[in-house]
Amino acid sequence: MLDIKAYDQLHEAVLLINAKDEIIYFNYSAPVYFQTPPRILKSGLTPEEIFVEKTTWPLDLIEEARRENEIKISAEIAFSLFKIPTQKLFFVLKIVPSADNPQELFLFFRDITVEKHLFEKYKTQMKEIEEGHAQIIQADKLATLGEMTASISHEIANPLTIASGNVEVAKGLLESCAAFEGKELLKTCIDNAFESLHGINEIILNMKSYLHKNEDKKEYVDLKILVMDVLQLLKLVLKENNIELSFDFTKDEVVAFVNPVKVRQVVLNLAKNAFDALCEKKSSHDRHLTIHLSKDENDGAIILKVMDNGSGIPEHLRSEVFRPFFTTKTIGEGTGLGLSICQKIILAHSGKITLEQQKNGTTCFQVVLPGVEVSSYTHNERYLSGLADHPGIKVLALDDEPQVLNVINHILAEEPEFVFIGSTKVEDALRIIHKFGVDVVIADLNMPQRGGFDLASEFEKVTDAPKFIFMTGGKFSEEDYEKLKLAHVRALVQKPFKAQELKDIIRKALKAKVV
Ligand SMILES: Nc1ncnc2c1ncn2[C@@H]1O[C@H](COP(=O)(O)OP(=O)(O)OP(=O)(O)O)[C@@H](O)[C@H]1O
Ligand SMILES: [Mg+2]
Repeated sequence: MLDIKAYDQLHEAVLLINAKDEIIYFNYSAPVYFQTPPRILKSGLTPEEIFVEKTTWPLDLIEEARRENEIKISAEIAFSLFKIPTQKLFFVLKIVPSADNPQELFLFFRDITVEKHLFEKYKTQMKEIEEGHAQIIQADKLATLGEMTASISHEIANPLTIASGNVEVAKGLLESCAAFEGKELLKTCIDNAFESLHGINEIILNMKSYLHKNEDKKEYVDLKILVMDVLQLLKLVLKENNIELSFDFTKDEVVAFVNPVKVRQVVLNLAKNAFDALCEKKSSHDRHLTIHLSKDENDGAIILKVMDNGSGIPEHLRSEVFRPFFTTKTIGEGTGLGLSICQKIILAHSGKITLEQQKNGTTCFQVVLPGVEVSSYTHNERYLSGLADHPGIKVLALDDEPQVLNVINHILAEEPEFVFIGSTKVEDALRIIHKFGVDVVIADLNMPQRGGFDLASEFEKVTDAPKFIFMTGGKFSEEDYEKLKLAHVRALVQKPFKAQELKDIIRKALKAKVV
């Protein structure tokens, strides 16, 4: 047998244990490897007591080596030490019965932590490659689908135009007819058919743009109107299938800064899914589709919920529904792209779409979009940050009419120096001014709730305040001129204004009082 001292030359830890498994020898590497002082290793400790986890210690194999007087090699063993319990180390144990006394065993700890970590890294990299590969296949499928859609939409365009034309002619003919029973119903049917044809066209165009390029045409939109318009398309089929539609809308204005075509597509996809789920329900009674729209009081975020009490989504499929091509519908009925398209659109709007926990048989998809001020600010700020060292003039417009915000946004977008933020409520405007700072505020004087004057009054005693420009649709009254006396008010403008006029007024307002 080798002189035991020779083991001190080895880099791996070596222990010699007696019949009672107590350590009776250890080489130089052992205290370092186990991070345990020699005096403790010497104190009749068993190797098992060095480790935090006792379960992984191969007691049976050690017994076997003793019984059979044979060398045994364990499988990989994971362990941690008391000093650093969070760190996992790995070794393979070689058990060699001593030539002098087979009851005594040499234990060689072959450390494989580095190899193990490399292997883990390799496994993660392989997984990433596999995922990447799956994504490429997915992208390829989408591209093929895109090409198919392009050719299908081309094929559809002609019949669609003919159908729309004929429906329009029918509508004209009907209008010139004398009153008869069912005329009104027929008129509604024709209107719906016409709108649906429009809808088909829009969806195809949208599908093409989704797959090919992602245009970012955002506008200020009244979401209540947008949602109602979309549901209008489905009204007739909902009625035919005994589905009761209800709107649970907040009293407040819900204006968003979004791409209306895309958001319409989200609402349509969600409503269509709810419709399908309700039609799957055996009973044709008690079928409810509810659309909820509200604003978060704290941050102005917009919350849209599409809820139905249809067939529901089983627990094990909940995590699958947003995956592209996941569908439970029969071939030809669903592509399984609806929700993944919705998710992509909402993410592009810095929002979130989630499937809420099923409550009382209600399936609820919730969309949260940032409030109008935040989304318009981040949209413009991103654009501005592309222009090196440009200080920019931050202009906030306050008006309850989304169209007015669109006009001002459009005018100011012509000049790179302006960062435009739209707002429809004094409270939200205040929040944005405090959060991001604003140079000029163009505010409507006559709003249903608090208006421009109330906003400017909030800054009466503040020295470093934005400059205010008031606007009104009608003529300015004597009283309005009085409002110019507020400390930071610089000008009054009358709607509609010319583009150049507005830009000049804003620039001048930063310098001096102009009326
Ligand atoms: N409101 C809902 N109730 C029950 N199941 C739903 C609901 N919404 C979605 N699902 C489930 O999620 C799946 C995926 O929905 P998604 O909209 O992505 O695709 P699809 O509706 O099957 O097909 P497509 O929308 O492309 O026509 C559906 O097949 C359905 O199983
Ligand atoms: Mg769908």
